[in-house]
Amino acid sequence: MKQARLIEPEKIVLEDVEKPVPEKSQVLIKVKRIGVCGSDIHAYYDQHPYISCPIVQGHEFSGEIVEMGEDVDTLSLGDRVTVLPQLVCGQCYPCTHNSYHICNDLKVIGCQADGAAREYIPVDSRLVVKLPEGMSFDFGAMVEPLAVGVHAVARLGDVSGMNIMVLGAGTIGNLTAQAAKGLGARSVLITDISGYRLEKARDCGIDFGVDVSQEILETKLEEAFGHDRADAILECVGVEDTIADAIALARKGTDIVIVGVFAEKPAVDIGLVQDKELRLMGTLMYKEEDYRTAIGLIQAGKIRFDPLISKHFRFEDYPQAYKYIEAYRDKTMKVLIDL
Ligand SMILES: NC(=O)c1ccc[n+]([C@@H]2O[C@H](COP(=O)([O-])OP(=O)(O)OC[C@H]3O[C@@H](n4cnc5c(N)ncnc54)[C@H](O)[C@@H]3O)[C@@H](O)[C@H]2O)c1
Ligand SMILES: [Zn+2]
Ligand SMILES: [Zn+2]
Repeated sequence: MKQARLIEPEKIVLEDVEKPVPEKSQVLIKVKRIGVCGSDIHAYYDQHPYISCPIVQGHEFSGEIVEMGEDVDTLSLGDRVTVLPQLVCGQCYPCTHNSYHICNDLKVIGCQADGAAREYIPVDSRLVVKLPEGMSFDFGAMVEPLAVGVHAVARLGDVSGMNIMVLGAGTIGNLTAQAAKGLGARSVLITDISGYRLEKARDCGIDFGVDVSQEILETKLEEAFGHDRADAILECVGVEDTIADAIALARKGTDIVIVGVFAEKPAVDIGLVQDKELRLMGTLMYKEEDYRTAIGLIQAGKIRFDPLISKHFRFEDYPQAYKYIEAYRDKTMKVLIDL
């Protein structure tokens, strides 16, 4: 079978390798769709702290079960599926306390273990989530990034009736905003410095968009939600400006969820966190229930993926897909690879 392997920074090679045989507890998935994520691109340019070459990338994917290990009885041949990419130890404190997604020894398929950039991938059956009848492989591959948003919003508890501000309208910010709406938020305001990203957010039904390179966020926030501003804020960029804005603009006694991954340490006014009695919460990936919620939201017609799918590439053109994303960074949201 063919696989696309990042052998050194900026070099993905297509190689012919032996088709894998599933172990007893695994199924073999014929990969149909792979989503390229920002972290894949960071790793490609050797700018990711936790991913190094050589690696077969691909952690957002969907496909079809073509072989089953003898111990697997929960799935069937022909099932259309997506996969939770988390390999966990099962022994550490988080793993034994219902928080395996923050396992002390977490490895992610496609990041620290070989991923789905190949024709067939063997996966433990417990990581496999079936797609409902009629859900496309495109949407199946988008469950993973949507689940990031679902988990981030779930950190806030019940968001019904809330006014929510999301900072950053990249794929993750957009899907976090859509998840918030889908989970019952009254109204969502999203920010970016890119008119294109804000246009996409509007196409996805987000209520308010603010271009913070042109407009004063504080003013726009109060125009949208009134003097009491947002009931909760989700930071989806990972830079000092946005986390500082979140802390400065948060209403007293509210929650801030930190979704963005910070490449540099931000300097923020922690005094305000104390004085305004804010709660700062992190969020990392998702759990199986978030995948199920994400799939439910898609099925209920509450998520618009189409405006986010910028382009498809054939598997043979894997390296070109990465070059395309770099060349059209400003106008690219999600690129999918088709097999
Ligand atoms: N917590 C998790 O589990 C998790 C999972 C996936 C991704 N992430 C992180 O989430 C973040 C967003 O991911 P993404 O794929 O959408 O990235 P992205 O680069 O596509 O999106 C970031 C967006 O922020 C915008 N931006 C930059 N400066 C801004 C500012 N001052 N104000 C408002 N917007 C600004 C950019 O224009 C861009 O649209 C990244 O840091 C990523 O690493 C976290
Ligand atoms: Zn990703
Ligand atoms: Zn563990």
